[in-house]
Amino acid sequence: MNLPHHVPRKTLTDGWIHIRPVGPEDTVEFYAAFLESWPTLRLWMNWGEEIRDIRSAQAHLELKADEWRRGEAYSFLVESEDCRFLGMCGLSQFNWRHRFANVGYWVRPSQRGKAVMPAAVRVLARFAFGELKLHRIELLIEPSNLASRRAAEKSGARFEGQLRGRICNQGLARDALMFSLVPEDVDSRSGAHSET
Ligand SMILES: CC(C)(COP(=O)(O)OP(=O)(O)OC[C@H]1O[C@@H](n2cnc3c(N)ncnc32)[C@H](O)[C@@H]1OP(=O)(O)O)[C@@H](O)C(=O)NCCC(=O)NCCS
Repeated sequence: MNLPHHVPRKTLTDGWIHIRPVGPEDTVEFYAAFLESWPTLRLWMNWGEEIRDIRSAQAHLELKADEWRRGEAYSFLVESEDCRFLGMCGLSQFNWRHRFANVGYWVRPSQRGKAVMPAAVRVLARFAFGELKLHRIELLIEPSNLASRRAAEKSGARFEGQLRGRICNQGLARDALMFSLVPEDVDSRSGAHSET
């Protein structure tokens, strides 16, 4: 099924937003951003309850690095020249037979409303289509998550419909709006370039 063998841990950028593979070396910044964000993340995320202190934050990032090594998920820290930790984005839930995956993301509250995540998603999409050779990436968003819907639209993702009971949040089946990006949606003229 043509799985990627070794995916290099490179930083990618559009010149403004940088996405960098996250690891335990980012624990201090991650934990500060997580504490700031958790009250607004817990509404939408089905992870995070396990992060209770700096040690569990480090364990969380060690898991992210392990997932990368095993090719199960690719998690990136989002940063810019002005801010070392804007948020995170990543790809998971791969279907290699049909070459698609799920996009996840969050931005710390103090950095929201600056179109950080629409830009980060476009850089992530170029990684997905260029490095991983995926054919499609999906964004599944609860209908009431208006900020995420707008971020998806602004990234260039296309709305495809409402799926019943498609995601599980706090133990309950929830409907989800399906947005997707395919390679044609990403402007190749302003392609992301890797730094290191
Ligand atoms: C969804 C999220 C990643 C958007 O990231 P972002 O970089 O702020 O995206 P944008 O700057 O494009 O803003 C998107 C929308 O958020 C809303 N918004 C603007 N400023 C905001 C602020 N300070 N705080 C919260 N939402 C704000 C606006 O509706 C905006 O749309 P607009 O540009 O049409 O006004 C971010 O709100 C977030 O982390 N939310 C919590 C986690 C989450 O929901 N993740 C996605 C799960 S599917």
